[in-house]
Amino acid sequence: MTILAIETSCDETGVAIVKNGNTLLANELASQTNWHKAFGGVVPELASRMHTEKINLLIQNALDTAQLNLNQIDALAVTCGPGLEGALLVGITAAKTLSVWLDRPLIPVHHLHGHIYAGFLEKAPVTFPLMALIVSGGHTMLVLVKDHFQFELIGTTRDDAAGEAFDKVARYCDLPYPGGPVIEKKAKEGNPKAFSFPRAMLHEGFEFSFSGLKTAVIMEIKKLRETHTPLPIADICASFQQAVIDILIHKAMVACDHYHSDTLLLCGGVSANTACREAFELACKTKNRQLIVPSIGYCTDNAAMIAACAYYQQQHLPPIPLNKILVKPSWPICN
Ligand code: KG4
Ligand code: ZN
Repeated sequence: MTILAIETSCDETGVAIVKNGNTLLANELASQTNWHKAFGGVVPELASRMHTEKINLLIQNALDTAQLNLNQIDALAVTCGPGLEGALLVGITAAKTLSVWLDRPLIPVHHLHGHIYAGFLEKAPVTFPLMALIVSGGHTMLVLVKDHFQFELIGTTRDDAAGEAFDKVARYCDLPYPGGPVIEKKAKEGNPKAFSFPRAMLHEGFEFSFSGLKTAVIMEIKKLRETHTPLPIADICASFQQAVIDILIHKAMVACDHYHSDTLLLCGGVSANTACREAFELACKTKNRQLIVPSIGYCTDNAAMIAACAYYQQQHLPPIPLNKILVKPSWPICN
């Protein structure tokens, strides 16, 4: 089955064509980050406009790359939420139009299910149960995946998501948006033990909190700026990044133990961080646990993960009629 998927939930316009959930025929991506940089974060109205500008071109590029015409597409898939309402609407409108025009089914995909299924793109077949740690710009959550589309939310963040903390700390350091990649780069030159930033709620269940850590980093920077000390930016970035990694690893490992999961799936934008990936590899090796992490290009938002998710979804969940496929900006991960 060949699925053409569209992702427009935030600031990446993505169109991918994937066969049978794991053979990637095309993966087109237009990042808007250069446009949002000037504002220090994503501007929703600008995001919708940029998706509108790019979507048709990316669909055509994806078909050209896959050397297919539209009639050779068996189904369409689209991200319906969670995400920015106007941005999601652009993708859904394009997908519905294609679905009606071609008389092919449309599969509505949850963005976070997509992040989880990014782990299936190259690694299928994956065995259940598995513990998924989703770490993105909008979410940080532990999800027990008992079987295909049987999700149990184990813990989420009480305040900022991990990626959001990267973005906010970067902004305070006058580093460009998105903060994650730039902090990772600076951290490579720094000492992760230079500052001892807090690891909040480490021993309090499976919930996360990153706002205290973010504030502690900001206060430290403020103090250093007031004393006119040159900002040891690399050390700050390395120490902050290490604190995030320590929290994520600790919570994920305890959750795997508690729920008897031998497999950990790490996904979402922050899992593109090399230091984070290496730390998880080491932790899982020590515990004799299988680690699944998508290739770096499939960690941040893309449509290939939406196509992979849609492939399994049409096998395991009933179809949804077109008039029930709606924008769901705050769609919970489990019903
Ligand atoms: O999954 P994603 O592309 O979009 C959402 O669904 O939110 O994640 C974006 C987030 C941003 O906060 C970005 O700063 C973070 O992922 N990110 C990273 C890295 N690359 C992206 N964080 C740390 N290290 C990275 N290399
Ligand atoms: Zn995402």
